[in-house]
Amino acid sequence: MRIGIMDSGIGGITVLREALKLLPNEDYLYFADTENVPYGEKTKPEVMRLVCEAVDFIVGQGVKAVLVACNTATYAAIESIRAKYSIPVVGMEPAVKPAVERSRNGAHKRVLVTATPMTIKEEKLHNLIARSDSEEIVDLLPLPGLVRFAERYCFDENEVLPYLKERLSAYNGADYEAVVLGCTHFIFYKDMFRRLFPPETEIIDGNLGTVRNLKRILTEKSLLNGGSGDVVFYSSGVKVEDAAILGGYKKLFERLDDIM
Ligand code: DGL
Repeated sequence: MRIGIMDSGIGGITVLREALKLLPNEDYLYFADTENVPYGEKTKPEVMRLVCEAVDFIVGQGVKAVLVACNTATYAAIESIRAKYSIPVVGMEPAVKPAVERSRNGAHKRVLVTATPMTIKEEKLHNLIARSDSEEIVDLLPLPGLVRFAERYCFDENEVLPYLKERLSAYNGADYEAVVLGCTHFIFYKDMFRRLFPPETEIIDGNLGTVRNLKRILTEKSLLNGGSGDVVFYSSGVKVEDAAILGGYKKLFERLDDIM
């Protein structure tokens, strides 16, 4: 059986790439909710409904586990999904803890958490920060424009860098020990974040931690292996067979190979 991976759009491809590396002997079903992207600019109840519908569809295809490769979707709906299904359900969480930890052991500089507007407003994120950040070193920045650029497959520095520079203009890069990419779409722009911060600033995402977590759970439940890295793609419930779209996905993997 396949592992289902879902996102509002192409962001989860960054997690799928990590999964293919760490769990190559699995087959995958990748679901992009292209009809409803972006999630991050919607209300929490709306996102919850969309994620539940998407997961109903994915589980209906007969998967052995679901990875919600979207921080926004995880915050909106992970409890509802876990309550409904008995198969393992793994979600994302902005990598606040490792970032604050790094800052504590480093020069005690600040941490910038970037995410979608919904995630930034979400109480769960504020609780996570309150638990890990006793010195109030965490700043929060929503970057909805990056999701829109990514969904247009726009990775052109001439378009994206001015947006990022403008959004970051109030922050002094040298103050930051770490920048958390709390949205899977943002990982496509890791190279641009690197250019806008000093070389010592770490740009952190939660992808590897999430896939390790999935591997641990599948191992515990003896659900590991049985595939060969085959991936089928769905766009909001429709199987993607169009060569141009599949070619676009391939280009995304190539971009990630270039910038990681
Ligand atoms: N990729 C998603 C995340 O990790 C959200 C993108 C969107 O706004 O749809 O939060």
